[in-house]
Amino acid sequence: MAHLEFPPNFLWGAATASYQIEGAANEDGRGESIWDRFSHTPGKVENSDTGDVAADHYHRYPEDIALMQDLGLDAYRFSIAWPRILPQGQGPVNEAGLDFYDRLVDALLAANITPFATLYHWDLPQALQDEQGGWASRAIVEQFTHYADIVSRRLGDRVKHWTTHNEPYVFTYVGHAEGVHAPGLTDRKLAVLTAHHALLAHGAAVPVLRENAGPDAQVGIVFNFGPIYTTSDDPELLAEARLKDAWGNRWFIEPVVNGTYPEELMETPEFSALQIEPGDMDLISAPVDFIGLNYYTRHLVGAGPDWSPERTAMGWEIFPQGLSDLLVRLHKDYHPKALYVTENGAAFDDEVTGGQVHDPRRVEYLREHLRACAAAIEQGVPLRGYFVWSLMDNFEWSMGYSKRFGITYVDYETCQRIPKDSAAYYRSVIKANGVDD
Ligand code: FCB
Repeated sequence: MAHLEFPPNFLWGAATASYQIEGAANEDGRGESIWDRFSHTPGKVENSDTGDVAADHYHRYPEDIALMQDLGLDAYRFSIAWPRILPQGQGPVNEAGLDFYDRLVDALLAANITPFATLYHWDLPQALQDEQGGWASRAIVEQFTHYADIVSRRLGDRVKHWTTHNEPYVFTYVGHAEGVHAPGLTDRKLAVLTAHHALLAHGAAVPVLRENAGPDAQVGIVFNFGPIYTTSDDPELLAEARLKDAWGNRWFIEPVVNGTYPEELMETPEFSALQIEPGDMDLISAPVDFIGLNYYTRHLVGAGPDWSPERTAMGWEIFPQGLSDLLVRLHKDYHPKALYVTENGAAFDDEVTGGQVHDPRRVEYLREHLRACAAAIEQGVPLRGYFVWSLMDNFEWSMGYSKRFGITYVDYETCQRIPKDSAAYYRSVIKANGVDD
C-alpha cells in the first residue's frame, strides 16, 4: 500500500474548548458565562445538559495530557475561559484562573506538546452580556484586548501559538441571528454588528499578542468553512450558491486578509445598518501569521429531498474532497502565510463493548480527510498542521452530550476516559507521519 508522507515538521494535534470539557463551573472564582446562562435556560440545550461538570478536565488535565502523550501529539489546541480570568468580564483579575492555565501549559511543555491557545471559544462573561449586550457594544473591543493582554502577559513566555477567535461566524450569526447558540438572539442586523465588533476585537488583539509573546509569536484566527457546491450549472442555483458562499465562507476571512467585506454582503439590508468607522478595516486587517480552518462538511445547493449521501450523527454529509478543494481555494484566493486545519472530525453513536469502543466510521472519516490534506499539500498548499476534533467527547453546544466527537470516549457518569479505535488509528498516522493511500 502506498504511503502519503507529510512534511517533516507537520504538527499533529487535537483540539478542545474550555466550556466543552472543563466543568468546574463554579470553582476557584470563575464567573458565569453566556453558555452557563444559556444551557441553564430550559429548552435551549438537548436533554437540559450543561457544562457544569462536562469532562471534568479542570481536575483531570494531567490524565488528559497523558492521553495526548500516548497518542504522540505534537500540539494541543485548547481555549481559555474568559470568565475564569475576569469573572465580570473586566475589572479584577482572578489569579486562580490564570494559575490553572499556567499549570496546564507547564504540563504540556513538560510532555513536549506545543500549546495552541484560543482566546475566545464562545464563553463570554455573562456580566458583559447583561451590561452592554456583549458583542453588540463597541466597548467589547477594548475589553477583549485587555483580556488578551492579561492572558498573554502571563502565558506569552511559553505559549507562542495564539488565535483570537474560534469561528466568529458561529458565535455572532448562530448566536444572534439564528438563536441556536448563546446568547440566543434572532436579529440578523444585530448579528452583522456583533460580527464587526468581533473582527475589530481580533485586529486590536493581534499586536498585543505579538508584543507579549515575543518575536517568535505566531498569531492567527480560526474560521469555519462549508464550501458550497451546486447540483447543476443552472444560473439560479449558481446565484444562490454565490450569495451563500459570501455569507458562509467569505464574510470573515476577507476583512481579515483583504480589509474589505464581500461586495455581495455590503449590498444586503443586514449590512445597510452597519456603521464602519474610519480606520476600522485597517485595524481588522492587521497581518496574521496563519489562518486556522475548521472543516466538517459541504453544502449542496439544489439537492432535493431524496438526496441521501453518507452522513455523520450530526446529519452532516461526509465529503472529504471538500477539504482539499477548500485548502486549495484558500491558498489561491487569499495567500495566507500558513494554514492549519484547526478542527476536523465526526460524531457517531459510539458504544462501549467489553471495555472498548470500536468506531470504524470515524477511522474512515479521518483517513479520507487526511488523504485530502495530503492532496492539498501536494498541490503546494502551505498546510502546517492538523487538529482532530476532538481529543475527547464533550458538550456539543445545543446538542449537549448527545453527540460524541472524541477519539477518546468519556463516560459521563464516572468521567472515565476510554481511547477509541480512532485514537489508535491516529497514533499510527502520527507515528508514520503519513496516511496510507
Ligand atoms: C465547531 C466548534 C467546536 C465543535 C465542532 C463540532 O463548530 O468550533 O466547538 O462544536 O464544531
